[in-house]
Amino acid sequence: MKKGHAFLWIVCLLLIGNIAASQEKPKVAYPTGYRDWPHVKSMLIFDQKHPLYNPFGGLHHIYVNKKGLETYKKGGPFPDGTVIVFDLLEATMDQGAYIEGTRKFIGVMQKDSKKFKETGGWGFDAFEKDTKNSFVKDGGKSCYDCHLGQKDKDYVFSKFRP
Ligand code: HEC
Repeated sequence: MKKGHAFLWIVCLLLIGNIAASQEKPKVAYPTGYRDWPHVKSMLIFDQKHPLYNPFGGLHHIYVNKKGLETYKKGGPFPDGTVIVFDLLEATMDQGAYIEGTRKFIGVMQKDSKKFKETGGWGFDAFEKDTKNSFVKDGGKSCYDCHLGQKDKDYVFSKFRP
């Protein structure tokens, strides 16, 4: 192959690579430090008959970063930059008490009305146990489909418990 041809091939491959990268689904950032964020509310789902038991059975706590705190209290659409974390732990019964067990996963909603416009302006993702491994394979569509029921509350179910 002539030198000039090889160069053209390399240019082509780089272009194709760039196009593929630009079409990748936008990613939700792992919410580093969320355990220091304001607590919104908690819920214990212990009965298999509960519609959310699979996969949300256990004890969950919800946290919001500073950016979204005021909106949680007052209502209205959340500003870009808001991050909400659904922190789900195993709940184990011990002598009449429910005790927090190991972490099952964290669910994350990150508001960015441009980046995530296909899912209501929110990026949805979930990270396994104590890792940063995402296990959401559909770009958050299945999460969004259920949260769509809360469209008039900017897709957020929970209310800030005073
Ligand atoms: C079957 C319905 C359903 C599906 C599917 C679902 N959620 Fe939720 N989600 C809820 C409900 C109901 C709450 C409120 C829980 C509470 O009030 O404690 C909630 C709460 C949340 C919250 C806290 C903010 C809010 O809306 O209250 C986050 C973050 C969250 N979910 C992320 C996710 C992610 C990520 C997925 C997909 C991996 C997902 N959810 C899938 C029903 C669902």
